[in-house]
Amino acid sequence: MIRPLIAGNWKMHKTIAEATALVEQLCVEEPAFPASVDIMVAPPFTAIAAISDVLLGGNHPSRIMLGAQTMHDETHGAFTGEISAAMLRELGVRYVIIGHSERRMYANETDAAVARKVRAALGNELTPIVCVGETLAEHEAGKTIERVTAQTQMAFEDLSPEAVARCVVAYEPIWAIGTGRSDDPANASAVMRAIRGAVDGLAASPILYGGSVKPDNISAFMEKSDINGALVGGASLSATTFAEIIRRSNCASAAR
Ligand code: PGA
Repeated sequence: MIRPLIAGNWKMHKTIAEATALVEQLCVEEPAFPASVDIMVAPPFTAIAAISDVLLGGNHPSRIMLGAQTMHDETHGAFTGEISAAMLRELGVRYVIIGHSERRMYANETDAAVARKVRAALGNELTPIVCVGETLAEHEAGKTIERVTAQTQMAFEDLSPEAVARCVVAYEPIWAIGTGRSDDPANASAVMRAIRGAVDGLAASPILYGGSVKPDNISAFMEKSDINGALVGGASLSATTFAEIIRRSNCASAAR
């Protein structure tokens, strides 16, 4: 069975003080989190060190793992404004989100850059969460599977199945992100099955759904055997709401 992952992407939200308060509240909720589910939060870079202290600094390290929202593919150099995988590792970061549609759209992150970052992450013992997803126009034109399988193949091009098996994929239909209009779970599950089949090595990797995940729809997604968790944006910004999603994520995975 694939161990599910519920991941929170905080995007450009939360000062250090706000981020610390949020994660401290999540730690209070932590005893109620199902043991069978992995949990990750990806704060903005500026808050990672403070959050790392909260999660890893005490006598009883939290089960909540740290992620970053992006990184550069080089180890160091003249890349103003960028952050390397080693800098993230030093802070206790375990996961890195790569190729989020907002990075592809606003930071011109190409499929080739995504592939380089996946390699750099793996080379530094970070687990990449590779985001793929189609636009509304591609969705309406019936091109979803063609688009996302191509993105997936480009992200993992020339990687061995063993390396691919260490990665996570997040299927995030762009039209569902931040819109309140989530995909139909059966539809998302079919797309995710196609993603899993598109690259050797993904058979045992978690594939997450992302796009307007909320406490009231998480169970419907998790009931599908091809859905192994969620990448949550807006609803991860409140400890109460994110904790509710984590608690409800358990139902179906336990039944499988
Ligand atoms: P959302 O964002 O949950 O706010 O739709 C998801 C994401 O962008 O990862």
